[in-house]
Amino acid sequence: MKQAEFKRRRKQLMAQIGKNNIAIISSAAMRPRNRDVDYPFRQDSDFYYLTGFNEPDSLAVFIPERKEGEYILFCREFDEKKALWEGAHAGLEGATQDYGADDSFPITDFADILPGLLENKGKVFYPMGRDSELDHNILEWLLHIRTQSRTGVTAPGELVSLEHILHEMRLFKSAAEIQLMKRAAEVSAKGHVRAMQKCQPGMFEYQVESELIYSFMRQGLRAVAYPSIVAGGKNACVLHYTENDAKIKRGDLLLIDAGAECDHYAADITRTFPVSGRFSPAQKQLYQLVLDAQLSAIEQIKPGLPWNLAHETAVEVITAGLVELGLLKGRIPKLIKDEKYKQFFMHRIGHWLGMDVHDVGDYKVDGEWRALEPGMVLTIEPGLYIPVNCKTVDKKWQGIGIRIEDDVLVTKNGYEVLTNGVPKTIAEIESIMQAG
Ligand code: GLY
Ligand code: MN
Ligand code: MN
Repeated sequence: MKQAEFKRRRKQLMAQIGKNNIAIISSAAMRPRNRDVDYPFRQDSDFYYLTGFNEPDSLAVFIPERKEGEYILFCREFDEKKALWEGAHAGLEGATQDYGADDSFPITDFADILPGLLENKGKVFYPMGRDSELDHNILEWLLHIRTQSRTGVTAPGELVSLEHILHEMRLFKSAAEIQLMKRAAEVSAKGHVRAMQKCQPGMFEYQVESELIYSFMRQGLRAVAYPSIVAGGKNACVLHYTENDAKIKRGDLLLIDAGAECDHYAADITRTFPVSGRFSPAQKQLYQLVLDAQLSAIEQIKPGLPWNLAHETAVEVITAGLVELGLLKGRIPKLIKDEKYKQFFMHRIGHWLGMDVHDVGDYKVDGEWRALEPGMVLTIEPGLYIPVNCKTVDKKWQGIGIRIEDDVLVTKNGYEVLTNGVPKTIAEIESIMQAG
């Protein structure tokens, strides 16, 4: 992502914060995994969105129309020893020269400098409740300023959620963001195709996971956007299954929910396919139903249509299909009203997608499902999960879990599926697996 894009976002943010106000946001922190080993660092998405700065121990401050500069970045000072042991970091000079900050200070000094920056400001925008240290510090600083009131300074009187502004901005993807999301989607799709082709009965689920990761990395994307789900047979009925440590059995389906991350943007794809390369008749019937629901839901993606229409459409197709196959009994409108489908399709049709896999942005505005607009990206991912112990349905359905998930961009006239690189019809899947 070019620096100009981050600059444009900061400008947009400043305009919304308004003069005499201030915004503060902290970076993510390193998190310990065990003893002196940390988890891989992943920058906070909001912080990265505004700064493009990929280091922990940083704090960004935005003060519209401040004469000495509007954008202040607190970060680690350059330290030669640290550079030798731990690698490159920008330092104070890098913060201004390479990352566009108007001013930079050592992170160790932020508690001394921040109270002065807050003096006489009206509103403080910050991500409330996300960083308890920042929450606490802001209140302390306000108290401190109030103790100085006899010198004529005033403390800000309003604390405002920064997310409210920022997440609305993040919901609408720019051309540069869409490019990154397309790359994440294309790379992820290829990884899924490889996993389909490499899958064999007797492998462990994590061995198929390794094929995905191998593919993502070989194509140049280092990180997964979220822990991959590789779930054989009944494990697919556990929605957030990530153990991935069971043996894959011939005759079962394998559900893979995995996506790569490209410069902080996620792809999120699910495919379900038969381990043996051929669907059984029962698997075929349920699979086709999920696919029909997914295709009908995708048709509801168009500017002006409410976000929830895709969900309602999938619910209708799935309920009718379950009645036809004998898994539900009764009148379709009544079954929908009583939410009987939730026994087998218990999650929603999808979510916003972006820097976070479950991306930010409101789904309702003034209590109403919001209308789709160009530049939004979302997933469409209906599923059917028939528990093994579900006594109300024929044995042949029990223990089958299926989800089909694609990433969809809302365009001016409709939609564009970003993840078409991995097939999903029964015929295509069976043929790709024979070729593997
Ligand atoms: N991978 C998480 C989800 O599909 O929502
Ligand atoms: Mn997913
Ligand atoms: Mn998803």
